[in-house]
Amino acid sequence: MPSLQFTLNGRLVVLDAISTNTTLLQYLRSSGHPGTKEGCAEGDCGACSVALLDSGPGDRPAWRAVNSCLIFLPMLNGREVWSVEGLASGDQLHPAQQALVQRLGSQCGYCTPGVVMSLFETCYRQDLDVDWKVDDQLCGNLCRCTGYRPIREAALSLAEAVPKDHFSERLQGPAAPCSPLHYDYQGQSYYCPNQLADLWQAMKAHPEARLIAGGTDLALTVTKHFQPLPQLISLEGLNCLRGTSKTDHGLRIGATTTLSQLEASAATELPLLARMLRFFASRQIKNRATVGGNLCNASPIGDLAPVLMALNAELVLLSDRGERRVPLDRFFLDYRHTALQPGEILAAVEVPRPGTDWRLGAYKVSKRRELDISAVCAGMAVQIDPKGTVVEARLCYGGMAATTRRATKTEEALRGRPWTLTEVEQAASLTAEDFAPINDQRGSQWFRATLARNLLIGFFHETREQSLRKLPERPSSTLVLS
Ligand SMILES: Cc1cc2nc3c(=O)[nH]c(=O)nc-3n(C[C@H](O)[C@H](O)[C@H](O)COP(=O)(O)OP(=O)(O)OC[C@H]3O[C@@H](n4cnc5c(N)ncnc54)[C@H](O)[C@@H]3O)c2cc1C
Ligand code: FES
Ligand code: FES
Repeated sequence: MPSLQFTLNGRLVVLDAISTNTTLLQYLRSSGHPGTKEGCAEGDCGACSVALLDSGPGDRPAWRAVNSCLIFLPMLNGREVWSVEGLASGDQLHPAQQALVQRLGSQCGYCTPGVVMSLFETCYRQDLDVDWKVDDQLCGNLCRCTGYRPIREAALSLAEAVPKDHFSERLQGPAAPCSPLHYDYQGQSYYCPNQLADLWQAMKAHPEARLIAGGTDLALTVTKHFQPLPQLISLEGLNCLRGTSKTDHGLRIGATTTLSQLEASAATELPLLARMLRFFASRQIKNRATVGGNLCNASPIGDLAPVLMALNAELVLLSDRGERRVPLDRFFLDYRHTALQPGEILAAVEVPRPGTDWRLGAYKVSKRRELDISAVCAGMAVQIDPKGTVVEARLCYGGMAATTRRATKTEEALRGRPWTLTEVEQAASLTAEDFAPINDQRGSQWFRATLARNLLIGFFHETREQSLRKLPERPSSTLVLS
């Protein structure tokens, strides 16, 4: 039986008799690495953060802080991971640890190992050119006692420091993707193919298996709902599904591209998408979460779907029968049900570059600005001709129905009409006919219905003079009217 292997704190770990549903956090704590803490086991607190050598933008290697509570051990096969115990060299603390000590950034210390691992990523990033990115780096780490000022100051002192040590040397070599694996243990199986032919074969042999990419959604089945996932097929070993590339018409995003990889290309190619990514989860989640996982989990409050739908994205679906294309606005059939056929995967998302005659907006309404789930999210795109008349409108909402959907009646009312406040207010009242939202803990039916209307009116004000409003450095919301 093949074993699974990875490097932990510079030492090779070989395992051949362990459940495929064991998380890295469980393994660390049971193997003499208790520095890594469990707070929530669902990606919300950051106490379990460790560092993974992964691919950054341009497929160059990069150190990434990730939540060990959401990583199953087989996902690490062939990879290199460091926990807080491995950072110091003898008595010499790592600069991330030193910075926290010097600024008194720890009291009870429960959050500290996780904070250190986020600061570790901070040290080796070379794209922390503005303050909000440092806040974003830290927003996945809760601290109940110290207060965030000293922690943030430590992070600011480390941003782009890139100490010359054996960790920065690792960034000169090749990126370390996961190695192919077929691992069985007591009726459980984990496949990680690196060829499409092997993927199709595994999917045929195990039609009941669940596909897994970053696992930030699926792992909760085990860690929160206590349901086993006995058969898993990972898409992470398939290089052809990863990364972004410019096309003649826009951007092609491979399904297993992580959201932190996407951030860099979206900033220049699709600023509307970058705007939503700024409010998406935490750095640790974005370092693992993939674009494909976000769309295929078909959550009605997934944050990428409304924006990509407004941008008229098309999905490339692949199986051993070949490729077919489905517009994103026809992909979601019902609550958590998509147009994917058995044996089919999402391979890529193609997003056309919007013309300069389009006005664009993306909005997320949640109880907190950082690391929260949307009550309502929206992506809006309106094409205006030189006379100020609406040619086309794509108003896409999440959190308003069982799936992310377009407000078709409202769109129809706008087409052919002048892009003025009176017309927009009239059309906005039709959102009440487009949607019959539910009451739940994130918002009442009234709240959601009012939001849908007001977001459209806000979008009008925001884009009256320009096609896409740039967010200020420290925004308090995704809608900026001043
Ligand atoms: C703490 C926390 C915060 C979060 N915050 C947000 C947020 O702000 N906004 C938001 O939208 N989401 C959020 N999420 C949800 C989740 O992180 C995202 O939806 C993420 O993009 C899922 O990607 P993944 O690769 O981890 O998916 P996985 O967990 O690997 O897979 C999710 C589902 O998609 C299927 N799948 C994955 N890839 C493919 C593919 N290529 N083809 C076919 N099927 C596939 C899997 O079988 C599975 O059913 C959050 C999750 C956590 C734990
Ligand atoms: S234990 Fe809270 S994020 Fe992992
Ligand atoms: S120092 Fe106590 S939780 Fe952060």
